[in-house]
Amino acid sequence: MDESSHAARRPHEGGPGSVAGAFSDPAAVASYLERTRRAVPGLDVLHDLVGRLLDEAVPRDGGRVLVVGAGGGLELRHLAARHPGWRFDGVDPSGEMLDLARTTLGPLAERVTLHDGVVDDAPEGPFDGATCLLTLHFLPAPERLATLRGIRRRLRPGAPLATVHHSVPAGAERDAWLARYARYAAGPGGDPERIAASAAALGAHLPLLAPEEDEELLRRAGFRNPARFYAALTLQGWLAHADDAA
Ligand SMILES: C[S@@+](CC[C@H](N)C(=O)[O-])C[C@H]1O[C@@H](n2cnc3c(N)ncnc32)[C@H](O)[C@@H]1O
Repeated sequence: MDESSHAARRPHEGGPGSVAGAFSDPAAVASYLERTRRAVPGLDVLHDLVGRLLDEAVPRDGGRVLVVGAGGGLELRHLAARHPGWRFDGVDPSGEMLDLARTTLGPLAERVTLHDGVVDDAPEGPFDGATCLLTLHFLPAPERLATLRGIRRRLRPGAPLATVHHSVPAGAERDAWLARYARYAAGPGGDPERIAASAAALGAHLPLLAPEEDEELLRRAGFRNPARFYAALTLQGWLAHADDAA
């Protein structure tokens, strides 16, 4: 099957053991904000960088930004607070995570439209910029490519996309980097057995790609010059721009 024909998948279609199933578990959703703050090195700085990179191209008045994997609302809250002239469309297939986003946003929700679904359920745009944070590592390569293509189709030519997700070299180094990340996420004094189990679970359940594979997917989806703007253990962030020709 041609990879481009894969529709982006909803988490509840992920089947037994789907990591994304965590986004419909009430206890996991309730602790999401606190866990994410602990598990993502420099989360506030990361959001600030994303906002500044989008700000290079998104019009200050009336700019439209697409947020894919918008559940929880963390990047929406940060971007909406610092860029008062922007409007946002956020899409996420977890109703529970969308509810959390509404709570996180509070009054800022006035400039945000949330859509229950995947990128194909988002408005056509055109958008002036897009983000996809902490989401693509849940998607196997065909769905990842379909998601990136769906984002590209909704962007103006030349518009920026910021992505951040786990991206790890293949081979012997992979386990070592997953262990380092798991140790960081566990915080000081983390239990070694739980850290080892957490690193093993990441490796077993996430369809991880290597950085060069992620960059290749961005190019195949119609983005030019993917450039790394964030790197923290296994989490990597790229800025890429929609090809004029795609
Ligand atoms: C770790 S959370 C990240 C949420 C937010 N972007 C952040 O940085 O806090 C991953 C989110 O991706 C969503 N998700 C899973 N599959 C998706 C897909 N195919 N398209 C869009 N979002 C998806 C999940 O429901 C979940 O809300």
